[in-house]
Amino acid sequence: MSEILKVLKGTKDILPQDVNMWHLVEQKADEIFSKYGFKEIRTPIIEVTELFSRGVGDTTDIVNKEMYTFEKSDRSITLRPENTAGVVRAYIENGMSRLSAPVKLWYKGPMFRYERPQAGRQRQFHQVGVEMFGIKQPTADAEVILMATNFLKSLGLNDLEVEINSLGCPKCREEFKNRLKEVLKPYLSELCEDCQKRYEKNPLRLLDCKVESCKKIFEKPEIQEVVNSDFICEECEEHYTAVKLYLDRMGVKYIENKQLVRGLDYYNRTVFEIKSNNLGSQNAVCGGGRYDGLVGQLGGEPTPAIGFAMGMERLISLIPKLEPKKLDGYIVSEHPVDAFLFAEELRHEGLNVEFDLTTKKFSKQIEKAAKVAKYALILGEDEIANHCVSIKNLEKGTQITVDRIDCIKMLEL
Ligand code: HAM
Repeated sequence: MSEILKVLKGTKDILPQDVNMWHLVEQKADEIFSKYGFKEIRTPIIEVTELFSRGVGDTTDIVNKEMYTFEKSDRSITLRPENTAGVVRAYIENGMSRLSAPVKLWYKGPMFRYERPQAGRQRQFHQVGVEMFGIKQPTADAEVILMATNFLKSLGLNDLEVEINSLGCPKCREEFKNRLKEVLKPYLSELCEDCQKRYEKNPLRLLDCKVESCKKIFEKPEIQEVVNSDFICEECEEHYTAVKLYLDRMGVKYIENKQLVRGLDYYNRTVFEIKSNNLGSQNAVCGGGRYDGLVGQLGGEPTPAIGFAMGMERLISLIPKLEPKKLDGYIVSEHPVDAFLFAEELRHEGLNVEFDLTTKKFSKQIEKAAKVAKYALILGEDEIANHCVSIKNLEKGTQITVDRIDCIKMLEL
């Protein structure tokens, strides 16, 4: 016998009995995001590597350690680790800046990051996300956050925590970075290897480090003082205050977390995450924020933008499982031609119907019907002779015989 091949580490099959949960999340995304005027976009899974090194940022773990990159015809190509950069590329390339603002796009699909797999963290995972272009006002931030919470509520997820922060603009952040570097300098040699690199390239990301010894250092009072200081400039402060005001008025509860910095380089001003206490260490179901510099950075006209993405596996793990969908009817007959014809007739009418392709004994077919369908549709000798069908309700055990023309009317679907 040949060796059985296994799925790659960090990837998973989504099996038929679970697909209904995925459909539910996708349908709700379409329904809720459409209400706010978002339109679906589908971009390629492969993009040129430069899109991510320039877009996501070459100081991030995603770009430095986690990308699936390969060469093809002398081009460096990468499986998308996230989709904001891809959607921004599509926005620019397809001239969407000519459309009247806001341009509101949503997407769903697989993303790839070469991370250490653990509960809630995979190498191929799926995101559903949105990006809104062209609005610099804080109403956009509030609308996107409100929509994220409404989408989660529509899935029955009410007890999640929204965390927000403002990263300021490149100008005021620069000052903050310098102060942070200054106060961290005496501890530089004690920081982990990654943090030592981040110290030079992107000191804000130090605050996000998960290494215990680094976390301890950041707890020191003089460092906390800098972290908690109000570094953002007047304009950024005004924007942030307005976002919070709108959220308050819309009844969105949130916690301010000054250490929320996000793992991607493109953010400015508002950033947010939505977390669950039922997910263990990988507790973020949603991450997003404003990225007013990215469109310009990727060659487009400078355009303010904001968005978020949610991990679909994490979402699905929080939703109670749905019962697998049953067939409407299972035709029970020892006459395959009649079963075939009747099944096709019902399928044309929109019903989900199967019959026994192997023509087993009547009793075996009834057993099978009880497992897979709501109704057994019995075509015995008498029914065939009289162009009737006996309909057995497999839940209630009741049975009636009707003319085949009336069959659909009799099924309480
Ligand atoms: P992100 O925080 O990297 O942001 O990912 C968003 C969400 O994707 C996370 O909160 C998590 O639920 C899920 N996720 C991330 N990595 C994994 C993984 N390895 N396994 C399972 N789930 C994962 C972004 O990707 C940004 N593009 C979001 C955004 C859109 N910002 C603005 N627009």
